[in-house]
Amino acid sequence: MKERIEELKAGFSESLALAKNEEELENLRVTYLGKKGYVASLMQSLRDVADKRAAGQLINSFKCEVEDKINEAAKALADAAIAAQIRSAKKYNPTLKFAEELGSYHPITLATKEVEEIFRGMGFTIEDYAEVVDDYECFEALNIPKHHPARDMQDTYYLENGQLLKTQTSAAQNAIMKKYGAPLRAIFPGRCFRNESTDACHENTFFQMEGMMIDENISISNLIYFMKTMLSEVFKRDIKVRLRPGFFPFVEPGFELDINCLICGGEGCPSCKNSGWLELCPCGMIHPNVLKEGGIDTDKYTGFAFGLGLTRLAMMKYGVKDIRDFNSGDLEALSQFKSL
Ligand code: DAH
Repeated sequence: MKERIEELKAGFSESLALAKNEEELENLRVTYLGKKGYVASLMQSLRDVADKRAAGQLINSFKCEVEDKINEAAKALADAAIAAQIRSAKKYNPTLKFAEELGSYHPITLATKEVEEIFRGMGFTIEDYAEVVDDYECFEALNIPKHHPARDMQDTYYLENGQLLKTQTSAAQNAIMKKYGAPLRAIFPGRCFRNESTDACHENTFFQMEGMMIDENISISNLIYFMKTMLSEVFKRDIKVRLRPGFFPFVEPGFELDINCLICGGEGCPSCKNSGWLELCPCGMIHPNVLKEGGIDTDKYTGFAFGLGLTRLAMMKYGVKDIRDFNSGDLEALSQFKSL
């Protein structure tokens, strides 16, 4: 009897390990515990055994073991089914996999965060502003009246109600002046739009970081100091800057700020068209008309503004050759950047 039970035990363990679902478990239960099952036939064979008591105990403990193991396995199967259900219910977002396993910031986000931190350390607030603005904010408040030729450079997408997608982060200047008054120090990163034919250097959607500082006695020296400090921190080395005259209706005087070429160090190479300089950031002293329009007392206050090309900065910093990569959604291209 003992041997027979040992044999059955071994067979049961094997079959149990192979049972993959409820149905197979149920079959196993019938095979061992059913009316015509192994346990029943063991009970019948008790008739021919001398020590019925001992044999009966053996059969009983085998029966209990089979019952327990089948119940345990059934519970494990039920638990696994619930866990699978929860897992699949969580998968409502197909990009979650990337977020969990391969998550990284977009290079423009990295550039924005880095510049924000640098300016925050210099006492600037960080402002968020709408992408859909009106003609007044984007042009008129910036000393660009209707039919001004400067508008030709900034054709954009118009909504039927006359609003437009902002062409420049300068569009927030007026609202921010009205919000805080003077003195003020603020930067405002944002997405800008222009009606452009796209190529490796031009996109219809790009990012800028505008900055303004308005206070008593602000001069071009303050502008140069802040730009130099910021750029030296971004590129983690001492950056030389130079100003060239540039025309923008909302600044007077206006400049193009160049930095010494990072590739050749100023000696001249194809990247800087052999000039040793790279154009990076238009800027200037805020035009009195713009200050007045923002409710600032121009007898007391002056200020500077700049419009840093964030997309351009990220391209230079990461060596991105084609601006269109940024909006491509191509994770292979975009997820390789971990920090600026
Ligand atoms: N908004 C200008 C553009 O997108 C750039 C600019 C120039 C911004 C001079 C400024 C500035 O704040 O002072 O072309």
